[in-house]
Amino acid sequence: MSPTPVYQRIALGDITINNIGQLRKLNSVLFPIEYKASFYEEVLHVGEFAKLVYYNDVCVGSVCCRKEVAQDDQTNLYIMTLGVLKPYRRLGLGDQLLEHILKEASDKENKINKVYLHVQTNNDAAVAFYKKHGFEITRTDKDYYKEVEPRDAYVLEKLIV
Ligand SMILES: CC(C)(COP(=O)(O)OP(=O)(O)OC[C@H]1O[C@@H](n2cnc3c(N)ncnc32)[C@H](O)[C@@H]1OP(=O)(O)O)[C@@H](O)C(=O)NCCC(=O)NCCS
Repeated sequence: MSPTPVYQRIALGDITINNIGQLRKLNSVLFPIEYKASFYEEVLHVGEFAKLVYYNDVCVGSVCCRKEVAQDDQTNLYIMTLGVLKPYRRLGLGDQLLEHILKEASDKENKINKVYLHVQTNNDAAVAFYKKHGFEITRTDKDYYKEVEPRDAYVLEKLIV
């Protein structure tokens, strides 16, 4: 008898008032920072720039971004959080989340100049992950994190052409 094939289905879904509790749970496991009510309020209004990822219908990760107008009148996209639960890593889910964000950022209507984010300087996995997608480290922000060690953060950026 041949073995049962492994069924793998990856899908992205919207974040809504009805499932935002899932995002809270994910964030509490994935990040050492407690996000305030204002974070969740903002996420509900960014449209395609915030998504949940499902693996065989189980919610296992998310991405949440913010659109910012910079001093030079350019619009930048800041990735506030992007994470996948540990047992589901290295399956391409992070790729799917980030590719979705980069595709939306490239949509001319969104007028995004660059996508950027902070990562702790010891987060080798995240640095490798973002570099694979064409991001570059542009500076180190000393003591960026107040309550976690190491406190320093790299800023990673990708220009949208
Ligand atoms: C960074 C993170 C989101 C990657 O998610 P993921 O679903 O495992 O990523 P993918 O499976 O799509 O990996 C894509 C590529 O990124 C790179 N990568 C991902 N994890 C890596 C690791 N631990 N070491 C080296 N390279 C890694 C690889 O090039 C990988 O491709 P490959 O598996 O074909 O070699 C995940 O590790 C995570 O959730 N970390 C905790 C939260 C976090 O630190 N977020 C980043 C700051 S917002």
